[in-house]
Amino acid sequence: MKEKPIGIFDSGVGGLTVAHAIKQILPGESIIYFGDTAHLPYGDKSAESIKQYSRRITEFLLEHKSKVILVACNSASASAFETLKKEFASRTILIDVIDPVVKYLNTRHFNKVGVIGTKRTISSGTYEIKLKELSPETSIVSLATPLLVPMIEEGFIFDDISNAIIRAYLSDQSLTGIEALVLGCTHYPIIKNQISKIFNFNIEILDSSKVVAITLREILEENNLINTSGKVIDQFYVSDYTPYFEKIAKMFFEGEINLEKADIWS
Ligand code: DGL
Repeated sequence: MKEKPIGIFDSGVGGLTVAHAIKQILPGESIIYFGDTAHLPYGDKSAESIKQYSRRITEFLLEHKSKVILVACNSASASAFETLKKEFASRTILIDVIDPVVKYLNTRHFNKVGVIGTKRTISSGTYEIKLKELSPETSIVSLATPLLVPMIEEGFIFDDISNAIIRAYLSDQSLTGIEALVLGCTHYPIIKNQISKIFNFNIEILDSSKVVAITLREILEENNLINTSGKVIDQFYVSDYTPYFEKIAKMFFEGEINLEKADIWS
């Protein structure tokens, strides 16, 4: 079991920011990544559709013998994680990208925290509900920032266009006085420095990928699942392939990558 891969999925290739952090923190682990590019973006889909997609992808990752499954998508973590736990917890260990961040925030005792994410993540209220449960004294404001995903995918990063869009969103009155901002979307680590600059580097910008990778390491250690064999094989699948996905995948993973098509929907 220890040699088996870590299963990771996202709506597309944005979750590769999390896969990258995992490879940094757990270089001895193999990963199997699935990006549901046929249904991208999840941020605009209904919770019901995302649950249905997430179930099938979880089955696919189990068919490929994943020893744990990481939902590396905030929209899916917000909409489908509880369903996946109910249906699959007896067969595998499941991890999402929201709980580790909420646990980390609880250790920092912030007075006011902001969260940005897709329409689906923000409208679900998942961050608020989970943070209120754990640290009721922290006030939390959340803001949907749907233009950021296409902006990043089109390569508008650290230029006038991206600066204007990010500034327009983040100057929202509700965010006044926040001490930390959660990047509640797996695409956003790409623009972390630009966001930080808008706040004059004065607040903590929390990119979930590292926190999630550390949580994963703890879970593997607790369950005696660390791969010590020295054999590492990484596989990257998408449900719809285009050279464009391959190109942006390299940006998110910060390295060479070969995408294979796995047509799990027909
Ligand atoms: N990766 C998704 C997330 O973290 C954003 C992209 C999408 O809308 O599918 O929510």
